Amino acid sequence: MQFELNEEQKIMQKMAREFAEKEVAPGAAERDEKSQTSRALYNAMGEMGFTGICFPEKYGGADGDYISYMLVLEEIAKADSGMNTVLSASVSLCAWPIYAFGTEEQKQKYLVPLVEGRTMGAFGLTEANAGTDAASQQTVAVRDGDNYIINGSKLFITNGGEAETYVIFAMTDKTKGVKGISAFILEKGMHGFSFGKEEHKMGIRSSQTLELIFQDIKVPAANLLGKEGEGFKVAMATLDGGRIGIAAQALGIAQAALDHAVKYAKERVQFGKPIAANQAIAFMLADMATKVDAARLLTYRAAYLKQAGLPYSKESAMAKMYAGDAAMSVTTDAVQIFGGYGYSKEYPVERLMRDAKITQIYEGTNQVQRMVVSSALLR
Ligand code: CAA
Repeated sequence: MQFELNEEQKIMQKMAREFAEKEVAPGAAERDEKSQTSRALYNAMGEMGFTGICFPEKYGGADGDYISYMLVLEEIAKADSGMNTVLSASVSLCAWPIYAFGTEEQKQKYLVPLVEGRTMGAFGLTEANAGTDAASQQTVAVRDGDNYIINGSKLFITNGGEAETYVIFAMTDKTKGVKGISAFILEKGMHGFSFGKEEHKMGIRSSQTLELIFQDIKVPAANLLGKEGEGFKVAMATLDGGRIGIAAQALGIAQAALDHAVKYAKERVQFGKPIAANQAIAFMLADMATKVDAARLLTYRAAYLKQAGLPYSKESAMAKMYAGDAAMSVTTDAVQIFGGYGYSKEYPVERLMRDAKITQIYEGTNQVQRMVVSSALLR
């Protein structure tokens, strides 16, 4: 067992850190305030190669490893976790399933531009009445010759409206339950594909979240992703990987909050001494740092298992659940250490606390993660 990053990973971490500090952090507060995403920043992340780290060279990727990708997500999340969401939704939830389940033709047409950052991706699973119960989809896809006709809608879709490529799920046979769900690749601009209301969110406000509306969209059968009836497996396998990315996002948020809190506790003087000299504050910092490190170890372990081709479903759920809870707790404590200033937008810990909350909710609530972990234990 070794706890050191290798040279390649260190280079990637340094590159991402410099990029995040120079290009991402400066506009983060403004994007949050205006609830505005930045396509230019996404494009720049593509040019840096962040959209293609863990894909093979033959699809435009860098043939890198999953830990390197997590290091990048962590650095972007430290600076602006909404932009991290934009990146990870595109890479983990759209490019990855096309890579893992797509035909060669689908990979050439959709994966290569995603990997090269020339297009953006999104993932449409959730519906108004199918959140945690992802199997109770209402969107339907009916075979019609060489096409499928898709009707329905999807809610809370990251990159909705902005993305060009969408991996979505629909029932192809309602009588078969989970086994009646299929995955499809949709393109923005397909006739009958439109966008509904935009969500006004508590955090990750620099990512766009929209409703997708499907009205008699004629989708070529060639856009079926995986086999008919295998959509739920495609969704679950995709989320297994995506959840490691959410753990990395939570880790970045928590690390940033800890860094701000340590600095502030050393600078802020009350009763003639820095507040860090009080054991109440010092012990809070110790607990925060321990949670950040535990989250890091779980996140990197899950990424290592995925890279090594070993089972990682339970471990990715553990990492997402722990890191998400740690981010919420660490950011709350950071705000507490900053006191009144922490509650104000003058310091970034307020935004970090709002951004942390979603990591306990999306890509499966942390209660769902506990279901995944416990069912693996009790199987
Ligand atoms: N990989 C592959 N297949 C899997 C799987 C996995 N990780 N997990 C389950 N399956 C398969 C099972 O093997 C089973 O198939 P078989 O019968 O052939 O074995 C089938 O799927 C059904 O499995 P379960 O009975 O275990 O599934 P379930 O209905 O009990 O659901 C659940 C379990 C964990 C609650 C699941 O529904 C779930 O994860 N729900 C949460 C959904 C979610 O994460 N939504 C987030 C939306 S995306 C989002 O937030 C993105 C964004 O925009 C950023």
